[in-house]
Amino acid sequence: MSAPAPTIKKEVLALRKQINEYSYLYYVLDQPSVPDAEYDRLFQRLQNLEQQYPELITEDSPTQRVGDKPLPHFEPVEHQLPMLSLGNVFDDQELMAFDQRLKERLEGISEDFEFDYTCEPKLDGLAVSLWYEKGKLIRAATRGDGSVGENITQNIRTIASVPLTLRGKDFPSVLEVRGEVIMPLGGFNAFNKQAQQRGEKTLVNPRNAAAGSLRQLDSKVTAQRPLDIYCYGVGVVANTLAQDKASSVEKNNHAGREHLPLADSHRDMLKLLASWGFKINPETKTVKGIYAVKDYYQQLLNKRPTLDYDIDGIVVKVDKIKLQNQLGFVSRAPRWAVAYKFPAQEEITRLLDIDFQVGRTGAITPVARLEPVFVGGVTVSNATLHNMDEIKRMDVRPGDTVVVLRAGDVIPKVARVIKERRPENTKAVVSPAQCPACGSDIEQLEDEAVMRCTGGLFCPAQRKESIKHFASRKAMDIDGLGDKLVEQLVDEGLIANVADLYGLSVESIAALERMGQKSAKNLLTALEKSKTTTLAKFLYALGIREVGEATALNLAQHFGSLDAIVSASEEDLLEVNDVGPIVAAHIAHFFAQAHNREVIQALKQAGIVWLDLSPQARTDLNLPLAKQTFVLTGSLTLMSRQLAKEKLQQLGAKVSASVSKNTDYVVAGESAGSKLDKAIALGIDIIDEEQFEKLLNQYN
Ligand code: IVH
Repeated sequence: MSAPAPTIKKEVLALRKQINEYSYLYYVLDQPSVPDAEYDRLFQRLQNLEQQYPELITEDSPTQRVGDKPLPHFEPVEHQLPMLSLGNVFDDQELMAFDQRLKERLEGISEDFEFDYTCEPKLDGLAVSLWYEKGKLIRAATRGDGSVGENITQNIRTIASVPLTLRGKDFPSVLEVRGEVIMPLGGFNAFNKQAQQRGEKTLVNPRNAAAGSLRQLDSKVTAQRPLDIYCYGVGVVANTLAQDKASSVEKNNHAGREHLPLADSHRDMLKLLASWGFKINPETKTVKGIYAVKDYYQQLLNKRPTLDYDIDGIVVKVDKIKLQNQLGFVSRAPRWAVAYKFPAQEEITRLLDIDFQVGRTGAITPVARLEPVFVGGVTVSNATLHNMDEIKRMDVRPGDTVVVLRAGDVIPKVARVIKERRPENTKAVVSPAQCPACGSDIEQLEDEAVMRCTGGLFCPAQRKESIKHFASRKAMDIDGLGDKLVEQLVDEGLIANVADLYGLSVESIAALERMGQKSAKNLLTALEKSKTTTLAKFLYALGIREVGEATALNLAQHFGSLDAIVSASEEDLLEVNDVGPIVAAHIAHFFAQAHNREVIQALKQAGIVWLDLSPQARTDLNLPLAKQTFVLTGSLTLMSRQLAKEKLQQLGAKVSASVSKNTDYVVAGESAGSKLDKAIALGIDIIDEEQFEKLLNQYN
């Protein structure tokens, strides 16, 4: 093999630089700059050249992230500075006490002093130490017991957001960075989905998944796992290599931290780390005073369900390094930082029983009755078990100790069974053969996990659910008709279907438990008000299977009238946006049932009306905005776009998605873009949100 020409060497260097730049933008900043295909091409080219000229391969080449040989075991690594843990607080009072302690400890600080605090998410992953010398990643280690960890360099190198070479020039010659390795939820779910499809074992939760992935002896396995890192601190920092390393060991016993200061504040230190290519969590914020920390906690708690990684609280750090040094440490935790934990999202409790609940469409869902447990910030005593397959998969039984999960606002669910704690004599759950509410047969289609009651509206449970749905806010919006009241009304035999609601009298309602004249009258007023609606809402309220709000709106807009929908064939229905064969079949089936048509007839007789939306009807009705076409653009702040659209349609206007010479008005919300430009170019009347409100109000 011939030696590579200087031009080849140059090309290799240029490719590495370019690839590193693109992957920094992609993995660290989350700002992809070139299409994946372009990145892949450059990577391929570099791989080819390195294959041709192996002498050009360097450790820090982006092609060398995956090591080739599995390790026999992990070598121990002694941390020169211990990797600390954090004290915890669990409520505002304890947080205030933390702030108070700091003031008491520091001399000459007044009672009303406000510390600058840098607040970060407390990531639920695995702490690691990354050791750089002269800007190159030399070694990575787990936290271990804080003093001794394991050498996981091979595995850490596979994480694309860990720099192998630092950016810039002004980094210290020895730099130990600390951070948390996590598995993002998106990657975790995708990984599990694939594993399930291949019949392989799934990962239990993102934290264990991250830990397990880092403890693979074969880094090729780790490379397949979607891992990421956020860096939040430094360990050893020194300006000369060997000599200083030794001195830092001497100077830094377990309590000390006298390495070179990088910056005056934690915040600025993070900024420096970012400038060297480390990934810093974007939720990091520096605030003034402990009350602002409280606000940060609340904001992040609200944001928690939208984040792509698990967090279990916030970490609060005194920002000024000088103050940090004055405060020092107690045993293995800094005095200047604390973790304010969120309420746990996973708890264990006992499963008392399993009930089968019948939903609006007859779907029968197993529900776990639990010994009440505080999880995700609320007390939970019921949790969904989804379906029979899920019960079988987990082999969950009454009497079991189970893990309950409640993340964000989602319905609590039983995540898994702790089999070791199973008492003797438990019995496996058997599927019910009859509907628990009405005794009708249960059907289960071959390829469906769901069991269904075949009782239809004869089933009191289905009836109750369909009435609750009918009354709900996005349907007929009957104020004051809650779930409990619907159940009472059905149980007392006052109503059997939705049409019966409109025949209720003050006396009959007032006679119910916990109801009086006043609440009965209010309910009748609400029922009266609900009679004026839109076709889309009415369709949605009927509770046809698979017809959600969006489909109902599409149907209403497409057909314009209920009669047209009732008499539409499945073929006609398929013409509607988003309606496929299954939905079309459900709609056709619904209207083919005599009792459904009877209820609709009764509703109409009760006085339910909506404005017809067909173009013909709009003109016929002489509506004020008939023949006018509107385009809504930009973001509307005074009302939702949907509501604006409905209001316009009720006044007879057509709402179009694009601007043309046929457009009469363009309503321009905030940061309107190309549609506004086009409207200007075409000389179309443009009104802002306030003018739009005024226009609507004219007709109200
Ligand atoms: S700082 C000097 N910051 O929490 C304080 N730790 O309980 C050392 N953790 O082992 C840690 N997110 O695994 C810090 N933003 C964050 C963190 C964080 C998660 C973990 C870390 C550490 C444990 C301490």
